[in-house]
Amino acid sequence: MSTQTIAGAAQASGQYTTEFPLECRDVGRTFLVGKGFFSEKKTLRAVQNISLKVRRGEVLAVVGESGCGKTTLAKMLLGLLQPSSGEIFMEGMPINEVDIRQIARHVQPVFQDPYSSLNPRKTIESIVSLPLKVHNIGDAESQRKRVEEVLEMCEMPKRLVHSYPSQLSGGQRQRVAIARALVMKPEILVCDEPTSALDVSVQAHILNLLQDLRDELNLTYVFISHNLAVVEHLADTVAVMYLGRLIEYGPKDQIFNDPKHPYTRALLDSFLTPDPTQDVPEIAMGRGFPNPLDPPTGCAFHPRCARVMDVCSKVRPEQTTVNGIKLECHLYPPATQQAAE
Ligand SMILES: Nc1ncnc2c1ncn2[C@@H]1O[C@H](COP(=O)(O)OP(=O)(O)OP(=O)(O)O)[C@@H](O)[C@H]1O
Ligand SMILES: [Mg+2]
Repeated sequence: MSTQTIAGAAQASGQYTTEFPLECRDVGRTFLVGKGFFSEKKTLRAVQNISLKVRRGEVLAVVGESGCGKTTLAKMLLGLLQPSSGEIFMEGMPINEVDIRQIARHVQPVFQDPYSSLNPRKTIESIVSLPLKVHNIGDAESQRKRVEEVLEMCEMPKRLVHSYPSQLSGGQRQRVAIARALVMKPEILVCDEPTSALDVSVQAHILNLLQDLRDELNLTYVFISHNLAVVEHLADTVAVMYLGRLIEYGPKDQIFNDPKHPYTRALLDSFLTPDPTQDVPEIAMGRGFPNPLDPPTGCAFHPRCARVMDVCSKVRPEQTTVNGIKLECHLYPPATQQAAE
């Protein structure tokens, strides 16, 4: 596999799909956690039974409170973390059959904190050119040109190429991180809270840059954010996670105009009332986020749900589809699905 491109291999096996460059099928990830060396380890289900397809060219936003599993999902999509169950497909190929270098040419991350993701001892030029060197792409001169090109795309002044990260502002560092992600000409960027470590005044510039780059380069984004105002602005599709599960998933307009799951409703209400530039206020739903090591029975959201019913604490809801929206909620049982289809 190492000598083949993903698209080539997928085409050869007849699996090439032009529509969905990334797909999760029933993906789960657990972690064994325990306090001390001798204490009993417990299983934490960080991500459970997630199935979704990233459509080529779309912005898929993943939202949900802290600890619901967004970064764990992102790392699996990037091939940086193995699922404990289920499978991830890249261009129709199981990701564990794809060479790690091929994955890196296809999907690249932009993480939250440009302070810790850039090597402080390297210049901007060597940080951005590193992926080209690791993958042995082009000679020194063409690498230098490519670095110049991506830094320009990211609106970084040329004079800064020999600077070190500590000499840059937060926004400039994130521009470098984006340039580094783009240097390999990937098709997909997985952006995990790309602006939340930045000053509010800088956030909009970086978001505009991401949007411009998407138009210019036909990129596909998986965009993780706490900020629902940003999600409303950028996303085509929204995936709402709660305690590791995908509880509502569908087109952005439908989800923002007519949220169906009480959790999505509460998230949107909390963002509509106070300051929309703030993160999701976690106290807005009465009791706080449950302990992921000891999740509630039935539907994990039931202790905080405004529309809780008897069944909710007893039985975990199956996924249903209502008017193109995938839901896990007893308010929309399979009978609703049939009625709506
Ligand atoms: N390496 C790990 N070992 C043990 N537990 C982990 C590990 N990584 C994540 N977790 C746990 O998995 C759950 C999901 O974590 P994750 O970082 O994916 O959440 P998140 O939605 O990205 O949160 P945030 O919005 O704060 O970034 C959390 O309960 C977290 O403590
Ligand atoms: Mg995270």
